[in-house]
Amino acid sequence: MKNNIQESLAFLQSKGFTQPEFGIVLGTGLGQLVQHIQIEKEVNYSDIPHFPVSTVESHSGKLILGTLEGKKVVVMQGRFHLYEGYSIQEITFPIRILKALGIQKLLISNAAGAINLDYKKGDMMLIDDHINLQGGSPLAFKTVSDFGDRFVDMSAPYDAEMNKKAIAVAKENGIKLHKGVYVGVVGPQLETRAEYRYLRNIGADAVGMSTVPEVIVANHLRLPVIAVSVLTDECDPDNLKPVDIAEIIAIAGQAEPKMVTLFKGLVRN
Ligand code: HPA
Repeated sequence: MKNNIQESLAFLQSKGFTQPEFGIVLGTGLGQLVQHIQIEKEVNYSDIPHFPVSTVESHSGKLILGTLEGKKVVVMQGRFHLYEGYSIQEITFPIRILKALGIQKLLISNAAGAINLDYKKGDMMLIDDHINLQGGSPLAFKTVSDFGDRFVDMSAPYDAEMNKKAIAVAKENGIKLHKGVYVGVVGPQLETRAEYRYLRNIGADAVGMSTVPEVIVANHLRLPVIAVSVLTDECDPDNLKPVDIAEIIAIAGQAEPKMVTLFKGLVRN
């Protein structure tokens, strides 16, 4: 893995990807933040050595370097998911590259289903903690200790300072921001009624198919991380309607200005 990281890094540096302060991962239907960035460089994932290639239609698959609110940012427009068939190490490789590029902080967005029925579709949720139901760890490989601790502490996986700031930014801008527990599942099938009931019982407020492995790797790299979900559907086991992926993507798109406001506020100062 060390050699692969070095080769990806050398390629990106040769393309001018130098000294970003923030890394940003844009989730399903959340690509519009890019319109607020003064773009300096962009490169398709498919051109980056050792990068997986995104296969999901709603994820466009580009790494972008630019300026947001006067800060240098590197943005993943589109992320990788387990359900695309990649390994958990492959989907988190880009996080290791962002860290190698020099980012100091990582901002993650995703679309998720609302398990907590007090939360409504279109609402935002700050991820305060998570449950890993993705069936593996991105740290379960032989040479893990070459990159950081093997037994990574997860007592506070999300950065308290950035969380506080996100809550302040939400308040200033009249954005309703819940705080809760995200459970990561593999997907790509949605959950059954019994599974939604189970997820509620184990303490989840939202469910999605990403983020958890990225956050584990960020913690491995001692990279402060924040993650925000757009809640795109209400997962009520007693009143469950067939899933409409187009609607999920549309709801994420409608909530996007709120995500843009939050992320801009986090990067500012
Ligand atoms: N389940 C899993 N992932 C999701 C959901 C859901 O209900 N909604 C958006 N992403």
